Amino acid sequence: MKVSKKLLFSNNEKEILQLVPDYSVPRYTSYPTAPNFHDKINNDTYESWLKKLDKNKKISLYIHIPFCGSLCYFCACHTSVVNKYKPIEIYVSLLLKEIDILGKKLKSKFNVSHIHFGGGTPSILKGTELWLIMQSIKKRFNILKDCKIAMEIDPRFFKQNLTIILNDCGFDRISIGVQDFSHDVQTLINRKQSFEITKETVIHLRENNISNINIDLIYGLPKQTVQTFTNTLEKINTLRPDRISTFGYAHVPWMKKNQKLIKVEPLNNEDRLKFYRMASHCFLNNGYEAFGIDHYAEKSSSIIQNLKNRNLQRNFQGYTEDDSEILIGIGASSISSLPNGYVQNITKIADYMRTLKKNKLPISRGYKLKTEDKIYSIVIKELMCYLNTDLKQVTKKFSKDINLFSSNIKKLKPFIDADYVNFQNFVLSIKPEARPLVRVICSVFDQYFEPQNNRYSFGI
Ligand SMILES: C[S@@+](CC[C@H](N)C(=O)[O-])C[C@H]1O[C@@H](n2cnc3c(N)ncnc32)[C@H](O)[C@@H]1O
Ligand code: SF4
Repeated sequence: MKVSKKLLFSNNEKEILQLVPDYSVPRYTSYPTAPNFHDKINNDTYESWLKKLDKNKKISLYIHIPFCGSLCYFCACHTSVVNKYKPIEIYVSLLLKEIDILGKKLKSKFNVSHIHFGGGTPSILKGTELWLIMQSIKKRFNILKDCKIAMEIDPRFFKQNLTIILNDCGFDRISIGVQDFSHDVQTLINRKQSFEITKETVIHLRENNISNINIDLIYGLPKQTVQTFTNTLEKINTLRPDRISTFGYAHVPWMKKNQKLIKVEPLNNEDRLKFYRMASHCFLNNGYEAFGIDHYAEKSSSIIQNLKNRNLQRNFQGYTEDDSEILIGIGASSISSLPNGYVQNITKIADYMRTLKKNKLPISRGYKLKTEDKIYSIVIKELMCYLNTDLKQVTKKFSKDINLFSSNIKKLKPFIDADYVNFQNFVLSIKPEARPLVRVICSVFDQYFEPQNNRYSFGI
């Protein structure tokens, strides 16, 4: 793959960088974002919200498995490394208990259209444990015939005999973690993963009827170079995954102590933008279409169709075709999203266990949505998914005046002046080349956002 200098260092790029603030910006998997959650929302609140759910609405389930086979130093997920299987076995028994309590609190057997196993590394589960979880879901919920069932896997710890259970349980999509194939980067981040094992896993899954495959990459990791990242991109391209997620490295060492084990300074915004552009250059030139802020999918894929029909969603798992309004999170740290608001489960496994043993749902905090939050959440979601939004239409839906957005609109000026945002008749569209600025532009509509300077500037 040739990487043109123009693409990497054009004047426009400098202009874009000038619009990137020197503070980090949320990824908006929810609005308001998780730091706004508070402990006044507890399991009583959650139970009352669950009771109010419309039983005719379909729901989605997210199951969190907070265990991994080895610790990647860059990781920002809620997970831990276990050398024995016993803690996983105990955790699975807790999941079963949580599903059981949830089932009892809900007033009927809800239809489930999506189930996502995330983590951590859910593929660390033994087939028997996965089977037990699916059986307990079936007991309490009605899994629809066309339910989409997905799992995040780490190929380094994936035992191929798990596929028998994946097939039996109806899993139809798999997300594979790769991040970067460079030897130097892999050594630095403590994630040795050969291309061969990744390829073998992809082939094995396809041979076993699991053809929806996503691959996760990270740009902005220390020690990435144009040459090594080109190599990673080319290798991924030969595997032809249906989707590719290219996450910008989130460096949050004050929250994730493991990141302090990376002994090299993180890259600056200029380099991050360069690697972001390389990924988009590679995939857009090889039959993929961009969606959201940093994702790519085969042009013929259903997600691109949904993008065109404005049916794309963004939730805690990222971009999804899942259009249910109710997402129920199960497992330590998982977040549920209901029409009334968000609730998050306890993160610490010992506390999660203690609460479940008292037959209580393990809620630690949450957020009750106000009407204005719902309005801003639509604006941010539409920008994050489609790069455009019609502000008049949004306010009309809630019978509000367009003046609601006056102060937000003022903050758009630098983006409009630089010609990265088109704003006419209250329709806001971000130009495709300004995709790296989408999160920054969304923050203009975040009523709770307080820029916080830190040593690292990750607007991109
Ligand atoms: C739960 S993990 C995926 C599955 C599996 N554990 C694996 O790593 O192969 C989800 C993804 O989050 C991304 N991720 C984790 N920590 C990150 C960070 N600090 N910055 C950006 N992306 C991150 C990685 O791309 C990772 O594949
Ligand atoms: S990136 Fe995946 S495998 Fe690595 S520590 Fe995080 S969750 Fe575990």
